[in-house]
Amino acid sequence: MKEIRIGLIGAGWMGRAHTTAFHNAKMIFGDDMPVFEMVSDVSEEQVAAFAQAMGYRRHTTDWKSVVTDPDIDLVDIATPNSMHFEMAKAALENGKHVFCEKPLSLSAEQSRILADLAREKGVVNYCGFSNIMNPANQYVKELVQSGKLGRIMRVHATYDQDMLLDPSIPIAWRHINKLAGSGALGDLCSHLLSVSQMILGDMDMVTAVQSIVIPERPVKAGSKEMAQVENDDVVSFLVRYKNGAIGDFSSSRVATGRKNYFYYEIQGTEGTVVYNLERMCEVQVYFKADADKDNGRDCGFRTVLLNPQHEGFKWFQPAGGIAIAFDDMKTLQAHALMQAMHGGEYICDFEMGAKVDGIIAAVLKSIETGAWERC
Ligand SMILES: NC(=O)c1ccc[n+]([C@@H]2O[C@H](COP(=O)([O-])OP(=O)(O)OC[C@H]3O[C@@H](n4cnc5c(N)ncnc54)[C@H](O)[C@@H]3O)[C@@H](O)[C@H]2O)c1
Repeated sequence: MKEIRIGLIGAGWMGRAHTTAFHNAKMIFGDDMPVFEMVSDVSEEQVAAFAQAMGYRRHTTDWKSVVTDPDIDLVDIATPNSMHFEMAKAALENGKHVFCEKPLSLSAEQSRILADLAREKGVVNYCGFSNIMNPANQYVKELVQSGKLGRIMRVHATYDQDMLLDPSIPIAWRHINKLAGSGALGDLCSHLLSVSQMILGDMDMVTAVQSIVIPERPVKAGSKEMAQVENDDVVSFLVRYKNGAIGDFSSSRVATGRKNYFYYEIQGTEGTVVYNLERMCEVQVYFKADADKDNGRDCGFRTVLLNPQHEGFKWFQPAGGIAIAFDDMKTLQAHALMQAMHGGEYICDFEMGAKVDGIIAAVLKSIETGAWERC
């Protein structure tokens, strides 16, 4: 059995999720043994506690010592957005395989540099869009790409959460442009864009508007001192795809009542598919040719429950109707990455990350110019 020695940078929510996912990938798929070699974060105390709890052999507060360490095969980057470029570039330059959370960087240009460098180095380069490996999205991809929905006419998509609706929540890196790049657009909508890229291919043009609903937040919990929110709480944009389809995308991090409403609808000339991540194991489908009929009346959509026949599902549950969850997407992602180490194909690479960042850049430009912009 082969070992993959992992160096994690960023011991927060995603750092924990990645570590668990590598562990699960070994347990569930029999992938290579992950050796949790080193973890880095900014606080000595916290990173030491993380290392002990999650089984890392060494810990450090200096991320550069992770990317240069000769005993590390894969550098796993789970820090705030603004650090991804410098860390991923340094890891690639040191010949490491790299797993980088989304977005790859804060600009289309930087992400292009990373995608090109990764190709040149010939190492595994995986971008952390979780929803790519969701069996539901894989199923929708199959429906669209097999032609079962006919010619795709329209996409209607939104990703809404209310986690930042409370104005007393303090300012954080997600609100500051030089740390996050954009607001709901990069944080949430980018996930929809990754799935759109996988299923429908390149976008051609976009035109966008944004709104900052809560312009100031306390500098820390309970403080009266306020700091400015710099990026979109809400964003909406129209899209034209290169294949001729059109669409509307939106996202909000202050969407009252919405928890994890990653929703899309793809309408084709022969059928329509609807998916909402809050109902992760259900896909709504309508096929013109075999619409259920009740005394001649068209009964509309039916619900397909994810089951072991759907790509990826069988590894977690033996029968349909038994739920899979967010962490299972992360395990499927870790599995794809481990397989990539042995030449396995994967689509969520830095090239995809760069394409999504290209669309984000076009949306941001359109917000400024008020015009249609090319992706
Ligand atoms: N793919 C997904 O589904 C998904 C979900 C959530 C977040 N993300 C992405 O993951 C990244 C991390 O998000 P999170 O929610 O885990 O954030 P987080 O704030 O929980 O964790 C980030 C960690 O990075 C650490 N860090 C900051 N500067 C550092 C440095 N110089 N060296 C080492 N560590 C440093 C922080 O101290 C923190 O522990 C973001 O880019 C975010 O967009 C992806």
